[in-house]
Amino acid sequence: MDLFEYQAKGLFKAHGVPTGLGEVATTPDEAKAIAEKIGGVTVVKAQVKVGGRGKAGGVKVARTPDEAKANAEAILGMDIKGHTVHRVLVDPGAQIEQEYYVSYLLDRTNRTFLAMASYEGGMEIEQLAVERPEALARVPVDALEGVDQAKAREIAEAAKFPAELIDPVADVLVKLWTTFVETDATLVEVNPLAKVADGSIVALDGKVTLDDNADFRQPENAGFEDKAAADPLEAKAKEKHLNYVKLDGQVGIIGNGAGLVMSTLDVVAYAGERHGGVKPANFLDIGGGASAEVMSNGLDIILGDPDVRSVFVNVFGGITSCDAVANGIVTALGMLGDDANKPLVVRLDGNNVDEGRRILTEAAHPLVTLVETMDDAADKAAELANAGK
Ligand SMILES: Nc1ncnc2c1ncn2[C@@H]1O[C@H](COP(=O)(O)OP(=O)(O)OP(=O)(O)O)[C@@H](O)[C@H]1O
Ligand SMILES: [Mg+2]
Repeated sequence: MDLFEYQAKGLFKAHGVPTGLGEVATTPDEAKAIAEKIGGVTVVKAQVKVGGRGKAGGVKVARTPDEAKANAEAILGMDIKGHTVHRVLVDPGAQIEQEYYVSYLLDRTNRTFLAMASYEGGMEIEQLAVERPEALARVPVDALEGVDQAKAREIAEAAKFPAELIDPVADVLVKLWTTFVETDATLVEVNPLAKVADGSIVALDGKVTLDDNADFRQPENAGFEDKAAADPLEAKAKEKHLNYVKLDGQVGIIGNGAGLVMSTLDVVAYAGERHGGVKPANFLDIGGGASAEVMSNGLDIILGDPDVRSVFVNVFGGITSCDAVANGIVTALGMLGDDANKPLVVRLDGNNVDEGRRILTEAAHPLVTLVETMDDAADKAAELANAGK
């Protein structure tokens, strides 16, 4: 889960990373009140989960509370790369002398963690990485050793910070590492890290991505969820512990195993080209143990999608054999009753396939069409979706 800047900086603060963190406003008057409370110069910042807010006009300095109000008026409701601004952060204004870049991330390719840092801020980091790669230090961090003061100094030196800044920057790097580890993050990025007028080093921006796989031991992370922005079907699927992603097509997809579901999306998209351009409506992996209840939950989510015109159930019987899956489908349709109202194309293969097909044939549910191969089933599902448009 990606966090908003104000949430990221809240975590920084809790872990001792120096940052000037104000408060969040959803109306111009609130922004004015916060600016009054902070006093002096403030900065009004759009809270959207996308970079380039500054360039889009989403970060504005205010000398007075009235200016903060006017800035908030201009920024709230603004569209930044497809994200509507619903909140602004009103921060104390910093007198910036220099801007730097630091981050930690999970480097999946090299199976390690990676520190990236640069003494040269002010430029977009993606651009710096391409144009002047030597200015962006990349230092692997061992998961067991982590970042102590010595390692932090090594990172700061690799990033070409001058001697007098090595220690103060290293202090921040150690605390950022603690933040990274203790929150189970996969990314912690500060752009810019800045030297301000009194010589101190502060995080002026913050980007944090939390690892959803660690939610079980980070119960407080649930509080960061942006429920308003979440797709309602995805939210419902999450509640039922289903691996569901909403797409913008018309053929609902249920499969077991991420690989099978991915290839199902491909064959359906391909078949759709012959049938009015229909596309897959979702990704849904019901996993290995496809019980009747899981099947019913999955069907319920997909049938609740108003865009769906047909459903393709593509199951390969492995640990759960095809007869269990077939019984699951029949039971699920029984459980859903009148809520099951769109044609289902079912393709079963694998362990105990004959028995599975027999069960479905015998049940003879009016909505179910049994098709033998994946390609033919995709074609049938696309044809039905096109006919139902
Ligand atoms: N509290 C602050 N006081 C003064 N200036 C600030 C403050 N916060 C941000 N800025 C300035 O605004 C710029 C953009 O802010 P920030 O990095 O938070 O947004 P961004 O979305 O990353 O924008 P961009 O991608 O355009 O850099 C910073 O590089 C900094 O110069
Ligand atoms: Mg930034």
